[in-house]
Amino acid sequence: MNSPAHRLYAALRHVPCDNDAAALRPGLTHGDYTSPTRLALEGERIFRRSWVCVGHDANIPAAGDYLVEAILNHSVVAVRGDNGSINAFHNVCRHRGHTVAEGRGNARRLTCPYHAWTYDHDGSLFHAPHTNGVADVEKGQLGLRPVRLERVVGALFVNLDPDAPSFDECHPGLRAELERWAPSPDTMALAYESPVRHTANWKVSVENFSECYHCGPVHKYLTDNIIDPDSYDVSAAGLVQRHVVGGRDNSMTQRLWHIWPNTAMGLYPLPGVGMVWCIRHMYPRSVDESTYQYRWYAAPGQSTEAIREYAEHHANTTGAEDAAIVSGAQVGMRSDPDATNVLICNPSHGVGSEHVIAYFHDLVRTAIATR
Ligand code: FES
Ligand SMILES: [Fe+2]
Repeated sequence: MNSPAHRLYAALRHVPCDNDAAALRPGLTHGDYTSPTRLALEGERIFRRSWVCVGHDANIPAAGDYLVEAILNHSVVAVRGDNGSINAFHNVCRHRGHTVAEGRGNARRLTCPYHAWTYDHDGSLFHAPHTNGVADVEKGQLGLRPVRLERVVGALFVNLDPDAPSFDECHPGLRAELERWAPSPDTMALAYESPVRHTANWKVSVENFSECYHCGPVHKYLTDNIIDPDSYDVSAAGLVQRHVVGGRDNSMTQRLWHIWPNTAMGLYPLPGVGMVWCIRHMYPRSVDESTYQYRWYAAPGQSTEAIREYAEHHANTTGAEDAAIVSGAQVGMRSDPDATNVLICNPSHGVGSEHVIAYFHDLVRTAIATR
């Protein structure tokens, strides 16, 4: 098989991460964050062929629940059927191309608002008005176009390349590693979600997640109350970053995984609640806007109310601080697009190191170079 996703993951597999580097490394140029042409290329070479998380089982728990997510220009709808299975489709009517669903909700069938073509949860065309007796209408051929979907610890990953290698082929061993730490997906409930608008390129949002170098200057509440930045340890291998951080409450350890290209998930220490599973999506919207979507999930015995209360506080402190700082970085890079970022690779792999950003940049460069 030689599909675009095969070529991408075959190339990325050979990119090393030097977790013990001691060096200043050149990063991407500012223009790589500000050029619409570059974003279009990332759409083709990264987002149309990588596994991208659009939600979790617990976002659509009941039959007929659906959610829509945009992967750049590609709208995808994931819907749960009566038998509990979840399928994903291009959110595009087979008649004349209107989207068939918006946001999220529950529907017995998905009905296109334009001329009321109606689709079952498995994507098949159920009804198209005024087509009786029209000889050429082959309803079996006019279902919603499927999108590859895989569930990994309840997270819903889609790939826009219909011939993509499986998630497990792209990330050997990762599913088992996550299963060790994640609560059982069918016991989880969505407690809170807070989409934070970043007026910054999606890579700035990913990179801001990827280091805690900024935690001291930017996140006073976080570092005083939640995590101990001196305990920070970050490393990467095989398209995955792993962040392990001691909590200020030293019975709790934060563990987060960032999975190429734009999904992070893991256990976050919430005071008074315990370790809470969260997923963070970093979706590109335009060259200088991204959505940093936090989703927090309650495991059995955890109070959704307590999680919601803390998550709102988090959104108003750490989340808002990050939104402001990434916006400032975008303004600066836009004003001098020919300059190049510099990355500190500190062999402590702790709070002062940006070596996993250097790795991310190598992945991005490799992806862009892979046709
Ligand atoms: S475009 Fe959907 S029914 Fe016409
Ligand atoms: Fe931050």
